[in-house]
Amino acid sequence: MEKKYVFGDVMIGKEELKERVAELGKEISRDYKGESILAICVLKGAVIFMSDLIRELNVETKIDFMAVSSYGASTESTGVVRILKDLDSDIEGENVIIIEDIIDSGLTLKYLKDYLMARNPKSLKICTLLDKPERRVADVKPDYVGFSIENKFIVGYGLDYNQMYRNLPYISYLEEE
Ligand code: IMP
Ligand code: MG
Repeated sequence: MEKKYVFGDVMIGKEELKERVAELGKEISRDYKGESILAICVLKGAVIFMSDLIRELNVETKIDFMAVSSYGASTESTGVVRILKDLDSDIEGENVIIIEDIIDSGLTLKYLKDYLMARNPKSLKICTLLDKPERRVADVKPDYVGFSIENKFIVGYGLDYNQMYRNLPYISYLEEE
């Protein structure tokens, strides 16, 4: 039988998101002072976070986009990643920051990191809005984390369930009924 889900409470509200994103922007601007950044958004989940974050940066910033999907129909990540959309730009010599919505098993990001490292960026860091450290399988550590959270299925502020709820201006979660 198909599982039914219900909405949990608001986990991270609009104002809290705004404040934390501004703090991350300050932190990144400080770390890259005098340098320029290439922010790579991992579509689609990170699109809202990235658009808010880059407006909090006061260093030279370029943006690009990648779309990836885990192989297979399973909801669990397999670690084998398919590139659906590759970068438009050459990242050699760039200070790349991968912008993610959430790190769960870490398998997607581990693959992406290795894939991008092979293209010789000047530096490569990871910035994620949300982190579920409990769920980690792959050995990846984000350099910037918005919020470290418990293991719940998150929706809102870019994150989806079956492509829905990305437009919610806050972070919520779904629970099995
Ligand atoms: P990982 O490879 O297991 O780390 O999976 C990472 C990707 O799975 C994220 O970039 C999200 O797109 C998706 N994902 C993981 N957890 C959630 C969640 O709680 N809500 C929505 N999407 C999620
Ligand atoms: Mg994602």
